[in-house]
Amino acid sequence: MTRSPQAPRPLAAGNWKMNGLLAARTEVEALGRRIAAAPPACDVLICPPATLIRPFAGAWSGQGIAFGGQDCHAAASGAHTGDISAAMIADAGGAYVIIGHSERRAAYGESDAAIAAKAEAALSAGLVAIVCVGETLAERDAGSAIAVVCGQVDASLPPAATPDAVVVAYEPVWAIGTGRTPSSGDIAAMHAAIRERLTARFGAQEGPRFRILYGGSVKPSNAAEILHLANVDGALVGGASLKAADFDAILDAYRG
Ligand code: 13P
Repeated sequence: MTRSPQAPRPLAAGNWKMNGLLAARTEVEALGRRIAAAPPACDVLICPPATLIRPFAGAWSGQGIAFGGQDCHAAASGAHTGDISAAMIADAGGAYVIIGHSERRAAYGESDAAIAAKAEAALSAGLVAIVCVGETLAERDAGSAIAVVCGQVDASLPPAATPDAVVVAYEPVWAIGTGRTPSSGDIAAMHAAIRERLTARFGAQEGPRFRILYGGSVKPSNAAEILHLANVDGALVGGASLKAADFDAILDAYRG
């Protein structure tokens, strides 16, 4: 099954993780030039390290690329050394924030409840929250991938979630940075299950409007196949988003 014409406008998002210094602006500049020359039928987002949101957004917001953070604290402000609030990301020019990435779930023990609280804070600051979910290899091998991911969707999305303010990103943990991806059939099955869950909770009107991204070893050679699947409304791209040429080649999936 392929994407329907009623599907939401897709989002191609780059997660730079802890990569990139100010000199990486040349990549953003190059990407901006390519997008201006051949605009893709999708929204384009880069989530660089927090230090780069302000300089990037200052130079290129409103020119076809949005910017965002990779995490935020659940509190609006306070004694949280080293953390960043959603309002700070917005103040720097960010429009989105990634919440609950599996690297943070693993390294900092972020629970579904903590992620829901962060997403709530993001919404309060006017950011779009990209909430990440995904199973481990052990969970997939045990046949519980869909149950695990749907459980994460239930518990990680805040009560105030709406299709305009929340994006779900399905990232199988074992596919991140490994070069391995699930089969197209497995991706489609998972996205259909997430869609069903969203529709059960938010209704037949709103459920289909949520964007559900796929992430995990998306690259130019597999992007078109993955991104044209039903219920796949974009990608969350790690390594291949660091180079403008690679990220732009992924955007080709959304060019006529
Ligand atoms: P890779 O595209 O490098 O596998 O990373 C995916 C990811 O974790 C994006 O958030």
